Amino acid sequence: MLLSKFLFCILLFFVLTFSSAESLGFTCKSNTTSKCKSLAGYVSPNATTLSSIVSLFGITDFNSLLGANNLPIRTKPSRSVAAKETIKIPFTCSCNNGTGISDKGPIYKVQSGESLYHIATDLFGFLVTTDEIAAVNNISNPDLIDVDQLLRIPLPCNCDDVDGNRVLHYAYKVSPNKSLEMIAKEFGATEESLLILNNLTDAKQLEAESILDVPLRVCTSMIRNTSADYPLLLPNGTYTFTANNCVKCSCDSSGKYWETFLEPKNWTLYCEPSPPEVKVRNWKECPTTTCVKEIEPGNNWGVQLGMSIFDSRCSDVEGKHNEWSCAYTGYNSRRQTVSVYMVNETRCIRGPSSGSSKMSTQSSNLVSFLINFGLLLCSALISS
Ligand SMILES: *[C@@H]1O[C@H](CO)[C@@H](O)[C@H](O)[C@H]1NC(C)=O
Ligand SMILES: *[C@@H]1O[C@H](CO)[C@@H](O)[C@H](O)[C@H]1NC(C)=O
Ligand SMILES: *[C@@H]1O[C@H](CO)[C@@H](O)[C@H](O)[C@H]1NC(C)=O
Ligand SMILES: *[C@@H]1O[C@H](CO)[C@@H](O)[C@H](O)[C@H]1NC(C)=O
Ligand SMILES: *[C@@H]1O[C@H](CO)[C@@H](O)[C@H](O)[C@H]1NC(C)=O
Ligand SMILES: *[C@@H]1O[C@H](CO)[C@@H](O)[C@H](O)[C@H]1NC(C)=O
Ligand SMILES: *[C@@H]1O[C@H](CO)[C@@H](O)[C@H](O)[C@H]1NC(C)=O
Ligand SMILES: *[C@@H]1O[C@H](CO)[C@@H](O)[C@H](O)[C@H]1NC(C)=O
Ligand SMILES: *[C@@H]1O[C@H](CO)[C@@H](O)[C@H](O)[C@H]1NC(C)=O
Ligand SMILES: *[C@@H]1O[C@H](CO)[C@@H](O)[C@H](O)[C@H]1NC(C)=O
Repeated sequence: MLLSKFLFCILLFFVLTFSSAESLGFTCKSNTTSKCKSLAGYVSPNATTLSSIVSLFGITDFNSLLGANNLPIRTKPSRSVAAKETIKIPFTCSCNNGTGISDKGPIYKVQSGESLYHIATDLFGFLVTTDEIAAVNNISNPDLIDVDQLLRIPLPCNCDDVDGNRVLHYAYKVSPNKSLEMIAKEFGATEESLLILNNLTDAKQLEAESILDVPLRVCTSMIRNTSADYPLLLPNGTYTFTANNCVKCSCDSSGKYWETFLEPKNWTLYCEPSPPEVKVRNWKECPTTTCVKEIEPGNNWGVQLGMSIFDSRCSDVEGKHNEWSCAYTGYNSRRQTVSVYMVNETRCIRGPSSGSSKMSTQSSNLVSFLINFGLLLCSALISS
């Protein structure tokens, strides 16, 4: 009898220590401290505005919020956010000693009458638990918090590569009735990677309202590892401003920006000079972002970042042609330079049937710049 009681106590002890040692944030393999960009899906409990979300999460760059949510650059901070609407929160992740949580912030100031539970659920939409807030803030009794006390909110995040690929980790709140399969499909992840990342043995272990570590595929880019913004991890349907706001880069899985090329370059980062309403930071003005291409000896053509030239002289019976596009490769803050690179690719033109109608709608888009200097215009090439 005594023995069984003793065993029960031992068991209870293990259960208690296991649950109280519930790890903070997401598990990351990184041993040393590594930092990266991360996203959290904030499901606003009540109707609110973007500016309230900005102050709740301590977002310093409003444009980064717009870019993460693919909202137009002219969106006002007063834009309303409906209850239950998901807003992606961009933040810096710090992976330290196996734990990935937001780096330093957000910081929340306790108002009168608020409990940790209210803060974790009603305010931060279940992205954190009361235990996690208590743990990072050394709160021994979660029922005792003071008005005006500053709390660090540890948003879960991760910096690990997945299957050898760089990804952007998204802290996703599992909505009711969502299966792991549906989530995997929605975000283009495999069920297996979701199970491993989240330490689940079985898809049935998935709990509604829990926060799942979802790896988002990012666009490949030509940004050099010496650039201050390396690696620029942009998932599908997002944009960002980089190089002190001089360059706008976006990621689209369908290669929207490359539709004129008939063979879309999907999942490739597309960068162009920022629109004028985006103010340059730190620098007096934006440096030039023009690629130079020597057409003939002594005859150079400048191609603006993001634009392309087709060289129809290279086309042959199979419809192959050469294309040069001016791509972004990074910036140097101290030297005040933005570097670009002329990408040379041989592409294959498929049948003109789908192409010609596409061209006419795309020409107004003017994302590509087609030059006719003894080189044929691409549209002429297609309609022929
Ligand atoms: C972390 O580093 C320690 C020593 O610095 C080492 O013993 C341990 O194996 C490392 N763990 C991992 C998972 O790399
Ligand atoms: C790292 O985590 C291990 C257990 O996960 C712990 O024993 C160790 O003290 C931690 N190291 C630091 C520096 O926090
Ligand atoms: C949302 O509404 C509930 C009651 O309807 C309230 O308790 C809570 O504080 C509100 N949350 C926010 C973020 O305003
Ligand atoms: C919590 O306590 C540990 C050691 O007791 C200390 O190193 C750490 O700085 C404290 N953290 C906060 C947020 O006060
Ligand atoms: C979940 O599914 C059940 C039946 O499949 C349905 O009755 C319920 O409304 C669903 N809940 C949500 C939140 O979609
Ligand atoms: C993974 O889950 C098992 C129980 O299912 C637990 O024993 C283990 O500590 C967990 N690992 C991590 C890294 O959280
Ligand atoms: C940076 O890239 C070059 C090749 O482009 C490579 O040789 C070098 O090892 C890389 N450095 C780091 C720190 O990854
Ligand atoms: C990429 O995002 C767009 C919307 O921005 C969406 O229509 C498309 O289905 C997404 N593609 C993938 C592969 O998720
Ligand atoms: C993306 O590219 C692959 C091959 O590179 C192609 O099979 C696929 O159809 C493309 N998807 C879209 C949406 O263009
Ligand atoms: C462009 O690249 C192709 C192969 O990728 C190469 O054959 C061709 O010579 C290059 N053209 C120029 C002008 O560099």
